[in-house]
Amino acid sequence: MSIDLLLGLQWGDEGKGKIVDVLTTNYDIIARFQGGPNAGHTLKFDGFSHVLHTIPSGIFHPTALNLIGNGVVIDPVIFQTEIEKLAPFNIDFPNKLLISKKAHLILPTHRLLDAASEASKGKAKIGSTLKGIGPTYMDKTGRNGIRVGDILLPDWKERYENLKTKHLKMLDFYEGKIEFELSILEDAFFSAIDELKKLPFVDSEHLLHTALKEGKKVLAEGAQGSLLDIDFGTYPFVTSSTTTAAGACTGLGIAPNTIGEVFGIFKAYATRVGSGPFPTELFDEAGETMGRVGMEFGATTGRSRRCGWIDLVALKYAIRVNGVTQLMMMKGDVLSGFETIKVCTSYKTTEGSIEHLPFSIEPEHVTAEYIELAGWKEDLTAMTAEDQFPKEFNDYIAYLEKELETPIKIVSVGPDRKQTIFR
Ligand code: GDP
Ligand code: IMO
Ligand code: MG
Repeated sequence: MSIDLLLGLQWGDEGKGKIVDVLTTNYDIIARFQGGPNAGHTLKFDGFSHVLHTIPSGIFHPTALNLIGNGVVIDPVIFQTEIEKLAPFNIDFPNKLLISKKAHLILPTHRLLDAASEASKGKAKIGSTLKGIGPTYMDKTGRNGIRVGDILLPDWKERYENLKTKHLKMLDFYEGKIEFELSILEDAFFSAIDELKKLPFVDSEHLLHTALKEGKKVLAEGAQGSLLDIDFGTYPFVTSSTTTAAGACTGLGIAPNTIGEVFGIFKAYATRVGSGPFPTELFDEAGETMGRVGMEFGATTGRSRRCGWIDLVALKYAIRVNGVTQLMMMKGDVLSGFETIKVCTSYKTTEGSIEHLPFSIEPEHVTAEYIELAGWKEDLTAMTAEDQFPKEFNDYIAYLEKELETPIKIVSVGPDRKQTIFR
């Protein structure tokens, strides 16, 4: 009786969607437990590339149930578009996609508040995806939020109006920062709410407890990454949910002792989108090459992702915070052609060299220190087994495994389902 977790170990966009899709054949239920449409999870197979934002990445498999847990925040308008985009796949949604009654709703005014707050911060902005994530989680913890189950109650419109009125007063505070036509946004919102109601709303914790008791296999799909966690990320440049393993417990209502494997997924280098410190960031041709070859553009916002070398100080921290039992390394193919590969093994600080993640990793407090490994020239994308890998790539994997003290069980060499090598 156990539930496995799949979590991003860096700043998001590690390739979670791809690997959840690959692993879904082994599971009965795929459950998202936090985040919302700030996520963009890309899946590629049969020549199609598809980006999911709120819907779990098991949706393309014929048998798996997909569950949106209580820890997720849902924008009905984005959700409706997501469903519409899946029309060519003839998915039997009411039998394949379930939504927790306790998941919170992103209202149009949450999105406006996100935009106004970011605009007011100027250069200090978080670089949020402007999907209303922060304001929605603020209302959740402030005990003002509206949940999916609430929209079935007779007084829900009244509650909506009350919250909206409060939000409009808050928007006054940001006077002039953004322009909006609320009635248009509300029309889209209420029509999307009607669509949302076509799906089953469930007591998801009960459903999961029953499934686990029946011996069903569950995979919890994380969104964002450990360094964007509200507590353990690079605060305040983080998202507003618990992206680490503990978030699966609170976001699904499962107990810690029901967790089996914790899959930690990372890129062979590092990326970050939005603001915030990034000690191994590259501002030279090497970074530009990673971005171009890796096609590092946000799946949700289209923004360029900042690129840099792998950071073992941050990775070790993420592995510990999450209790990772198996690693998955993505995008090694992007590093083909680099003469040498740099690996950050410590940070230089005023107190000397350190190997743990300190309170602040802003440039005024830490500088990345590197070792160098030999690069490889070969294109990895058509390789189907480890013994085809160039020696230098196998050496890179072996070095990371030793340093991270955790086995790397999957090596991904391209975006397609098929470009996945199990070790
Ligand atoms: P997620 O948010 O963690 O699901 O990741 P994203 O989908 O936002 O970003 C990962 C990007 O890398 C997507 O465009 C994937 O199609 C792509 N990708 C995933 N794995 C690999 C890989 O091994 N090699 C290459 N070149 N691209 C990959
Ligand atoms: P997936 O699941 C990468 C970043 C934003 C911003 C910060 C806060 O695809 O890995 P928010 O909108 O959450 O208030 O933004 O977090 N961010 C992500 N970066 N991948 C994501 O999701 C992200 N979700 C949020 O860029 O810096
Ligand atoms: Mg993404």
